[in-house]
Amino acid sequence: MKFWQGLDPLRALSGTPIADLLTDARLDRFTVDAAGMHLDLSKTSITDGALDLLIDLASDVPGRRDAMYAGEKINETEGRAVLHTALRAAPDAEITVDGQNVVPGVQETLTRMREFARAIRHGDFSGQGGAITDVVNIGIGGSDLGPAMAVRALAPYHDGPRCHFVSNVDGADWADTARGLNPATTLVIVASKTFTTIETMTNARTAWDWMAAEVEDPAAQFAALSSAQEKTADWDIPPSRVFGFEDWVGGRYSVWGPIGLSLMIAIGPDAFDEFLSGGRAMDDHFREAPLGANMPVLLALAGLWHHQVCGYPTRAVLPYDDRLARLPAYLQQLEMESNGKGVTMEGDDLPGPAGPVVWGEPGTNGQHAFYQLIHQGRTPVPCEFMVAAMGHERELDHHHRLLIANCLAQSEALLRGRTLDEARAKLAGKFEGAELDRQAAHRVFQGDRPSTTLVYPCLDPATLGAIVALYEHRVFVEGVMLGINSYDQWGVELGKELATSLGPLVEGEDASAKDPSTRNLLTLLRGWR
Ligand code: F6P
Repeated sequence: MKFWQGLDPLRALSGTPIADLLTDARLDRFTVDAAGMHLDLSKTSITDGALDLLIDLASDVPGRRDAMYAGEKINETEGRAVLHTALRAAPDAEITVDGQNVVPGVQETLTRMREFARAIRHGDFSGQGGAITDVVNIGIGGSDLGPAMAVRALAPYHDGPRCHFVSNVDGADWADTARGLNPATTLVIVASKTFTTIETMTNARTAWDWMAAEVEDPAAQFAALSSAQEKTADWDIPPSRVFGFEDWVGGRYSVWGPIGLSLMIAIGPDAFDEFLSGGRAMDDHFREAPLGANMPVLLALAGLWHHQVCGYPTRAVLPYDDRLARLPAYLQQLEMESNGKGVTMEGDDLPGPAGPVVWGEPGTNGQHAFYQLIHQGRTPVPCEFMVAAMGHERELDHHHRLLIANCLAQSEALLRGRTLDEARAKLAGKFEGAELDRQAAHRVFQGDRPSTTLVYPCLDPATLGAIVALYEHRVFVEGVMLGINSYDQWGVELGKELATSLGPLVEGEDASAKDPSTRNLLTLLRGWR
């Protein structure tokens, strides 16, 4: 709660124009290197004094961080440890939960995953119509977004069977994916931590029926990923193809283990290991670097500065990396499901908002869509840019040079803006008098808009792992400082309960107990069916 008490002093330190702060010397404090990446926070309005204060207010972070790594039950509302870091820990690490070292179990499952992935990739495990050509991961939320994002991000490393992701209960998702697939050469992976999620179970049942219509033994081409292994038994999937994980892995933190199986099949166990090693490199940095030189901590402090101190309601994630197209959606779950909370760990009302709205799209596409608002809209949007030094398409390096130039140009434009005088000077000769003033006013950019930029040599598996772990730890730090529980998600429950109770009403049962709007919508929809 310390952070909330520090808000007024922090606000008193805000308001300095970024351009006034941006000296060469500022780079010493406001840039940081970790896991082969470089993060620049210098284009923010955080002053030296504000950073000192923010770091003071982060004094609980090291203790909570150590508690997390040590397997303490820091997810207090669910009585669970938070140990996604154990999924990428060194094989000889020792991490205990309830007195038991969990690393050997993690390694055993990883070994089984590797064997299965290799068997598929080498044709030793095949479907009833030949070698596996396609893998369909059926899952939603954390059981979809991580592997879907990562498979796309690592397309240059994808040398295994094609991978598809079905998440939405909208039958269109399944139908569009299944069209063109051969059930006899497809592996279906049912990914669900709880193995009860209605969307996933519905899609899995449909997939099963689709498979059963073509092959003798559908179970032979199904695999399951879950922490509720007893529930997978109902599906007759042999235990050798069930990959379990413990309840101390949150759904949105689960890509590192069994939920990442489709990624491992796509890129191979060795590249998957590199992905884990990138996450581990960020873990080591997060554990060891002092707060003021700690990448996740500094990114979190910038986040708190922008949302809670400056009051900016959203932040944009803008990867200048087309293969990170799903990263904003992935981070939406990671950040908003973790820190979109209204009460403290103790259950008291929060004195202010916790997490901001997170959104984004890859550059340069976004430039031609919503950047207008980012540059001239009245509400500043802190932007988190990211770009690689090199693309994988070396023969298209002229594209990549343009990509880099655009990325840097945007953060520079946000910073500098354009004054009325500059706009007038640009238009002089074209317009004059009142029309010159009017036209110039439309071309003014306020400037002084904050951004951060993350740069890395190339989007390889290790770098992707480091980026994901960076954001995971950023969420953790923000959560600790806000005094919330980042690891539960009770806010999704009510909608799920109501959907269950609405099911029979959609089919025609009496809806008179519903509110007038819901009743009216139901009547209309039922009438149109
Ligand atoms: O509804 C939210 C949620 O519980 C997420 O936290 C989770 O990632 C998703 O649903 C899917 O859950 P499961 O993996 O248990 O199917």
